[in-house]
Amino acid sequence: MERLQSILENGMYGFYVTLNETAEKDRIFCKHDPVHFLDVARIGQIINLQENFGLTQEMIYAAALLHDIGRWQQYETGEDHAAAGARLAKEILEQCGFLPDETEQICGAIASHRDSSVKEEKNLRGLLYRADKLSRPCFLCKAEQECDWKEGKKNLQLNY
Ligand SMILES: [Fe+2]
Ligand SMILES: [Fe+2]
Repeated sequence: MERLQSILENGMYGFYVTLNETAEKDRIFCKHDPVHFLDVARIGQIINLQENFGLTQEMIYAAALLHDIGRWQQYETGEDHAAAGARLAKEILEQCGFLPDETEQICGAIASHRDSSVKEEKNLRGLLYRADKLSRPCFLCKAEQECDWKEGKKNLQLNY
């Protein structure tokens, strides 16, 4: 968990989390905050173990902690936050001691976390896509009726 702790303590990571928080101060729908990141990490690890993906906890958590750090950029410029996040995550991963092939795999998963074509893949990309969508507790959400997620995508029952 040492490299994961480094991500949490990384100055750029903290800065991007703060930018997300400021941009979503008045947002009534799901936020892109560290609570969401941890939900994605833990659901990802549950799926990893239940379905034998064979991924390390560290790779799953690194991808989950960083996958939405570009959300503020989407509010500011309209750039897709998956692409922005992958770009911003690269430097943080390098600073936190991740090797080039690990960084590439994590950034690839972040870049495709909104691309439904990867959801069947039995790798980090497929896992992050699924864990991200499954993490939203629509059954607890007061804004569920106003949310534009399609009915089939909403998590209306407890699964994880
Ligand atoms: Fe996202
Ligand atoms: Fe997310």
